Amino acid sequence: MRQSLVVGNWKMNGTRASSILLSQGIVAGLGSNSAQIAVCVPYVFLASVGEIIKDSRLALGVQNVADKPAGAFTGEISATMLNEFGCKYALVGHSERRSYYGDTNESVAARFSQAQAENIVPILCIGETLEQREQNQTFDVVNEQIDAVINLTGIQAFNSAVIAYEPVWAIGTGKTASDEQAQEVHQHIRQYIAAKDQVIADKIQILYGGSAKPDNAKGLFAMPDIDGGLIGGASLDAESFLKIYHSI
Ligand code: 13P
Repeated sequence: MRQSLVVGNWKMNGTRASSILLSQGIVAGLGSNSAQIAVCVPYVFLASVGEIIKDSRLALGVQNVADKPAGAFTGEISATMLNEFGCKYALVGHSERRSYYGDTNESVAARFSQAQAENIVPILCIGETLEQREQNQTFDVVNEQIDAVINLTGIQAFNSAVIAYEPVWAIGTGKTASDEQAQEVHQHIRQYIAAKDQVIADKIQILYGGSAKPDNAKGLFAMPDIDGGLIGGASLDAESFLKIYHSI
């Protein structure tokens, strides 16, 4: 059986003080739920949040990682640096990075590879735009996004990776994919991986992201190929994030 995983993506929100309060609130409400849980925080809050959660089951993550190991790359943060802070997960290829900051399938693959080189689990974010969905290109788009990584790292790299399916049209819009719409793509992704390696396909966690909220999480998480969620807006409030976590 695959373990479930719920990840909060705080994006560019909060202050140091609010991040400390939020992480304290989450830790306090973890209860006996054995599902995995993590928060992807802004880099500058890694130390503060890391200190709060260090003895808890709440894992630390970030929202991006450099595509190079070190050197003259002003403004970038390397996987080695993140490792020093006990960072367990790094999102790579979030649609906001792809659409606003020029991330390409190739640079995302390099970020994925850099994270793994430092034992950070990459959470590869993939998904189609509304236009691509309307043109029936959803499967082609996610296939290409996955292939770009496999071409660089090989399929075995997915032994220690997570995939997050985030339809771009559902991110921050309040429009969630229906349980069936999400399941259809998750199943496709798992089958696509299975064609390359059945063992990896059976064990890889595939998360859903895009306007997941306390009131729709249960239905999504009940789908056979949805192993948890990548939560944006609703992860900024401890109570709503915990409600989502406990609906797994
Ligand atoms: P929302 O949950 O705010 O739609 O964001 C989803 C997301 O982008 C998580 O990475």
